[in-house]
This record gives sequence, structure tokens and C-alpha cells, in this order.
Amino acid sequence: MKHELIIATNNAHKLQEIQPLIPDHFEIKTLKQIGCTEDIPETADTLEGNALLKARYIFEKYGCDCFADDTGLEIEALNGRPGVYSARYATDGHDFEANIDKVLGELNGIENRKARFRTVIALILDGKASYFEGIVNGKIITERKGNQGFGYDPVFIPDGYSQTFAEMLLSEKNKISHRARAVAKLVDFLRTEK
Ligand code: IMP
Repeated sequence: MKHELIIATNNAHKLQEIQPLIPDHFEIKTLKQIGCTEDIPETADTLEGNALLKARYIFEKYGCDCFADDTGLEIEALNGRPGVYSARYATDGHDFEANIDKVLGELNGIENRKARFRTVIALILDGKASYFEGIVNGKIITERKGNQGFGYDPVFIPDGYSQTFAEMLLSEKNKISHRARAVAKLVDFLRTEK
């Protein structure tokens, strides 16, 4: 029998990206499929804390094994900000334009542009929690370039590349992204679990 595993996201793009990678002996279910429609709280002050909060919420309320992720942009000269607050940096909502403006404003005149995207996945399997981390290092440029992707993509150039994430094809970004790297570690782990 397959081992049921809930992916704690309602983001269709993430589902599409992750679902095909999960080993066959797991049956992935979405929040919708288990009847979870509520907003899961994200009130921790670290990526690890938020990912675990989400996974625990599902485990405790629905009694299912599951995993959840949280991502942030960590800028060296801003002491790691916006970090866990990346989605709500400039406003309460997910205003990508305002968030980029705020970051560019704070970095105005600052030479150190080093930044990284970091994804943390928290997995609860048979009641036991594990974490998987994916990082992509890069830099923040001074003005937007490209119109693919989302979030901070137009101002982030990964190390070893000359294009921003927003100038790359999604397939290219997905090969090197923070999320892809965290998912690869999760998949390796799941391959060894029954
Ligand atoms: P989430 O945890 O995946 O929802 O990500 C939180 C926030 O981080 C998003 O709202 C974006 O602002 C930012 N973010 C996450 N992943 C990416 C990415 O791949 N490119 C650009 N911004 C991202």
C-alpha cells in the first residue's frame, strides 16, 4: 500500500513542480483533497519555524504525514532581511512591486549586494520531523530586469549567471533554484523511507 503524504500548499505552481518528483511508493495529496481550506498560520520568526508550524498544523488536525515549505530572500548588507518576512516586507499583502522597491531603496548606495534565496522544507513522517534546506547564492542588482517568475526574481542574479531569475526560462530557473535544491534533498530522503 502507498504511504499517504500531504503537501501543505495551495500554490498550484509548487504542486506542479514538486509532485512528479516524489517517489512512487508515496501518494501525494493536496490540502484541498483532505478538505483543508483554512489559512494555516505562519507566525514564527524563522523559515524553519514557519515550515514546521504548517506541517504540524496538518499533522495534528488531520493526522496525516505531510511536508511544508517556507522561503525567504536573505540580503547580507541588511542582516538577512527580508528573510522570513519576504512576502510581507513592504506591506501586509504579497505586493511584489512594493517589496522590490523597499529592498532597492534600502540598498541604495551600498556596495555589498550579496544575497541568497533559502528554502526550508519541514517533513513530518510517522510523527518525526526532519528539515531539508536549499540555497542559491547571488546578488541584488540596482534595477529590475526581465518579466518571468515572481517575487524578487527581477532583481536577483544567481552566482555564475548574467541574467536575473526573471530573464531565465522557468525550466532553467527550476534547475538551480533554492526550492529545487530543497526538494531534491527531500526526494533523496523519501527514496530511502517506506
Ligand atoms: P513562500 O514561502 O514560497 O511563499 O515565499 C515567500 C516569499 O519569498 C514570496 O512571497 C516571494 O516574495 C519570495 N520568494 C520565494 N521564492 C521566490 C523565488 O523563487 N523568486 C523570487 N521570490 C521568491
